[in-house]
Amino acid sequence: MTYTEPKYRVITSASKEELEQLKEQAMDPLWKPTYHIYPEYGLLNDPNGLAYYKGKYRLFHQWYPFGTNHGMKHWAQLESEDLVNWKRVGVALIPTEDYESHGAYSGAALEVQDKLYLYYTGNVKYDKVNRSANQCLAIMDETGKVEKYGHNPLILGVPDGYTGHVRDPKVFQKDNMYYMFLGAQRIDETGTFLVYESPDALQWNFRGELQLQPFEESFGYMWECPDYAKIDGKDVLIFSPQGIERNGNKYHNIFNVTYVIGRLDLENLIFEVDEMDEMDGGFDFYAPQSFKAREGEITLFAWAGMGEFEYPTDAKGWAHMLTFPRTLRVIENRVHQMPVKALELLREEGRKEEGILQQSLLIQNTSKAYELNLTLKSEELQTFKLHLLASDKEKLSITLDQKTNEVTLDRSQLVHQFASEYGTERTVALSSLKQIELKILVDHSLVEIFINHGEKTLTTRAFPLEQSTDIIFEATKQASYEYHYYELKRGL
Ligand code: FRU
Repeated sequence: MTYTEPKYRVITSASKEELEQLKEQAMDPLWKPTYHIYPEYGLLNDPNGLAYYKGKYRLFHQWYPFGTNHGMKHWAQLESEDLVNWKRVGVALIPTEDYESHGAYSGAALEVQDKLYLYYTGNVKYDKVNRSANQCLAIMDETGKVEKYGHNPLILGVPDGYTGHVRDPKVFQKDNMYYMFLGAQRIDETGTFLVYESPDALQWNFRGELQLQPFEESFGYMWECPDYAKIDGKDVLIFSPQGIERNGNKYHNIFNVTYVIGRLDLENLIFEVDEMDEMDGGFDFYAPQSFKAREGEITLFAWAGMGEFEYPTDAKGWAHMLTFPRTLRVIENRVHQMPVKALELLREEGRKEEGILQQSLLIQNTSKAYELNLTLKSEELQTFKLHLLASDKEKLSITLDQKTNEVTLDRSQLVHQFASEYGTERTVALSSLKQIELKILVDHSLVEIFINHGEKTLTTRAFPLEQSTDIIFEATKQASYEYHYYELKRGL
């Protein structure tokens, strides 16, 4: 008998009434975003199968319909013509087969001979702790119809030397060969990447581990969600290693995301690392995936959430969102992330102001979905503060210290606290803060902060009271400021 628990249940086992009820329970609009992707009900996690295919952006995400816990994962589907206005399409993958008996886990898309190949992991559990993984394929045709491949799984089980934690295929083509990277855990409980190779994107041969050099031997106990892209001529690997230690200001979350820049040598399975850094310095950013947008720009979505914690919307029947799509660039050997240009399509009323900041400036605001672009200049180096989601009861604070070049995000002064056992402050260090340019996206319960053209980003969930919408700037010394503010309209 296969292992079962009530949470391993597929959506087709539910009656129409049950699904209606789940939808109804998740109706409360408080904290629901206006322009970010979120689940109608249940739990969303990783973005999956991202692609621009046949004139449309195709996006899928991990979805558990029956609650806000991590249960049987399906792939929910959305599509868009511009990356910012989305339509829900339904459920693309329902794990009904033996090779995916405990969930259709994460994976990536690749266009192959005019079809969109959606690679994913079939999760199989034998009991509470023992598991295996199969690498599977579903194919989207020109009409947008998705069907599982008839000869699944493509890769049955895991190679010798690895535990059942082998998953999240990222597939790409190079020099007439296809490559698949998988996140994996060795038997000794250390994390790594596995590489498979295929001449036709269907038959896969195991090549071995990708060696990251020079690199500490053990960096976490499991590497999830490998992602690879060529950005501005550099090879970039992005991945989500679990179990890594804090390092100064970095890696303070229970699970973290890292990137390395360097050279990928597929012949010798070596990635020569020049640079390594945390991908986002905030609290809620995990399992990102990149893809090529219409004009070839490398574009990334991440899960704006974290495993293991209860979030304030859990009680309302839905959990988590995706980040806003970000364009990636490599500038001076650092990955920079900025919201995609199509953000401008969402702009409604705008306001531009400039002046001299004496001590503090209050921007009265009642919107919960907006973009704020702020430039600060001061003769003498000083410390600025910016408070968002503010009222007399609470605030989310950002401190910009021009002497240390550090930016700190503090969510300790919000009324609704969550995940605070991992701290309530996060700090990132910039190469310089003499010039300050911030782009901030606020969407009800998500705040994304892009500092100095996206050299660093801070992504955080925050669950403000209804009345907490003020924006306040503070300076210790005189400074000149300029801001552009736009309300943003509905994107989903
Ligand atoms: C990352 C992850 C993936 C896995 C998926 C399951 O958040 O754990 O490794 O495929 O979520 O939902």
